[in-house]
Amino acid sequence: MRPIEFRSDNAAPTADYVLEAIAQANSGSAMAYGGDAITAALQQRVSELFEREARIFPVLTGTAANALGLAAMCPPWGAVICHEVGHILTSEAAATAAFGGGIQVTGLPGAGSLLDPTTVAAHLDGVRWDDPHESQPAVLSVTQATELGAVYPLDRIAELVELAAERGLRVHLDGARLANAIAALGCTPARAVAGVTTFTLGATKNGVLSTDAIVTFDDRVADELRFRLKRAGQVASKMRYASAQLLAYLAEDRWIDSARHANAAMRRLAAGVAALGFTIEPQPEANIAFVAMPDEIRQRWSKAGVDFYDLGPGRIRLVTSFATSDADVDDALDRLRGIV
Ligand SMILES: Cc1ncc(COP(=O)(O)O)c(C=O)c1O
Repeated sequence: MRPIEFRSDNAAPTADYVLEAIAQANSGSAMAYGGDAITAALQQRVSELFEREARIFPVLTGTAANALGLAAMCPPWGAVICHEVGHILTSEAAATAAFGGGIQVTGLPGAGSLLDPTTVAAHLDGVRWDDPHESQPAVLSVTQATELGAVYPLDRIAELVELAAERGLRVHLDGARLANAIAALGCTPARAVAGVTTFTLGATKNGVLSTDAIVTFDDRVADELRFRLKRAGQVASKMRYASAQLLAYLAEDRWIDSARHANAAMRRLAAGVAALGFTIEPQPEANIAFVAMPDEIRQRWSKAGVDFYDLGPGRIRLVTSFATSDADVDDALDRLRGIV
């Protein structure tokens, strides 16, 4: 039986238009380290898309984008506040601390994997400000869409931005799935990042081959990143190929269309799984879902060629991508129906 992929959007292939863009970039010579015309066009596209002067720095991974972006926003004695399930806290091997000279990443609880302004405010109230014995909160980092597949409503982000501004923190966004959130919210890219200083664009989960990026609206962060990225080995000599991928990705709303497709595939899958009697919690708003499924059934579904992450007794994670077809979803549901 043909395998059907729901393990991760990282397992999806590269979009054809990205490969074509790389092939097109592959002619003649071009200035190295980002001095090329494609990178210049990418810079322009990003400012146009986010409706203000922005700088984009292509890097290899989302982890590099998060850690180096945060390192440029936060002093070594500072703390970055995120949700307790935040990828930067749970899944990046303390890269933010490593690149940021010891930055502390603090995770706070919040219903539905969303940071709650009241909880953040209470945490900040308890900080011993100006006391050199304690890391000083300097950045609030929001993951949009979240690690659990939820999407922050824009007014929740606005509240967090306001709170951060009142308390002298800057706002960072881990946008590993930013396109999925924009597609779900139906807002403009500019609105999605309103009040955010610096963010991880997210690209490899949504069709790009080998490049993520840091985008910043802050010149000081941009100036610092030039040096930080070089020292971290994240400035590609042949940057035109990285920039070509991102330029193709961001052209003509392809990134949003791809994410909209992934979200729709998840809605179809989640509806089918729920109709077969399984509980999905929280309700998926982007392209990730967590399902309660008895061990025997999940083992048999997996043996039937449906690939997903097994999260331990009774729980699995399903992820769709731009490459998930309706036939994939329907075949997977047929196989599950056969088992149930
Ligand atoms: C929410 C989130 N942020 C950041 C990353 C890091 O991306 P990368 O695997 O490219 O380092 C991931 C990867 O899965 C992620 O899910």
